[in-house]
Amino acid sequence: MTDDVFSPLEIRETTIRNRFAMSPMCQYSVDDRDGLATDWHRVHLGSRAVGGAGVVLTEATAVEKRGRITPEDLGIWSDAHRDALAPVVEFVDSHGGTPGIQLAHAGRKASKTRPWDGGEPLQPDEGGWETVAPSAVPYPYDDEPPATAKLEADEIADVVESFRAGARRAREAGFEIAEVHAAHGYLLHEFLSPVTNRRDDAYGGSFRNRTRIVREITEAVREEMGADRPVFVRISATDWLDDRASWDIEQSVRLADDLSDAGADLIDVSSGGINPDQAIESVGPNYQLRFAERIRNESDADVNVGTVGGITTAQQADAIIRNDRADLAIVGRKFLDDPYFPLHAARELGREDAVDVPVQYQRGF
Ligand code: FNR
Repeated sequence: MTDDVFSPLEIRETTIRNRFAMSPMCQYSVDDRDGLATDWHRVHLGSRAVGGAGVVLTEATAVEKRGRITPEDLGIWSDAHRDALAPVVEFVDSHGGTPGIQLAHAGRKASKTRPWDGGEPLQPDEGGWETVAPSAVPYPYDDEPPATAKLEADEIADVVESFRAGARRAREAGFEIAEVHAAHGYLLHEFLSPVTNRRDDAYGGSFRNRTRIVREITEAVREEMGADRPVFVRISATDWLDDRASWDIEQSVRLADDLSDAGADLIDVSSGGINPDQAIESVGPNYQLRFAERIRNESDADVNVGTVGGITTAQQADAIIRNDRADLAIVGRKFLDDPYFPLHAARELGREDAVDVPVQYQRGF
């Protein structure tokens, strides 16, 4: 029988109830710049579980303090962060959602103000900090980027250990899925792409060297999550910089094989973010689906793929799964617009049988 968007997805010991996943989306909503989850995160993530999402992924959650994009980001660099996330996880789980955490390090794109405060580089007198990257080249902001330091080899090992510790705490908090954020021009993508990686040691130069840190982190996260729980990796399939040496879909296909060997179960396929010169061909419906499809069709590994970008309707999400183009429909902004997108999709597709409307809400459905 053909799978549809309401077919469960089984990965290792985890059963995801349907193919709708809420994409990681920064909320910039911690109090006191301490990285601890608040009521906002509980209500925000909890509402999507109530709304029927199969997977509910947290925003980019920093494994190190200097890896936050803004001081208002979530963190997982201490046990206190784990304990603040545990009730969020419990609520999502109790409403049938599979809780996932995106483990992240912003690299040279750290130390910024929130989007609604301008999204500008955060200056030292405002609490800004020195960022780290594979090479000491700041992100080409319009004005005054934060100083960017090159990570030395021993510091790279520390970053790997930060991801490992983040995964261990995530598991302790009850997360079923850990997603490694290796996309959008943040630290791990900065290693992958020759645009930002100018190293000549074991972490730069060849494909094997540029991808080393992502493989090491995926292995570490797999070890901490254990054999039973899924590990996802989000990548940017292309830098959209065809005019220069950059990261592209051919390398992404190769990387998918390596990450599968390293223990990844699903590649979450996004794109872009490494450089403001990027020439994105289109940002319309399903605009990144063709990259997910290529990874799915061309990679030797039997790895699942998720597609994200411009999914806004029930029919669209359903068609992606029915036509076997991806395994998971990962939805960002539509979920901000409609926390109950999967419940509404079930009604639209005549699949009310496939979802559990909470008893408290049934008179409204
Ligand atoms: C994002 N996005 C994002 N991506 C990611 O990997 N980690 C993150 O923390 C964030 N944060 C974030 C915040 C907000 C407010 C938005 C709108 C987006 C990107 C997001 O996950 C998704 O990939 C894109 O929004 C494209 O999908 P949609 O929105 O077209 O479904």
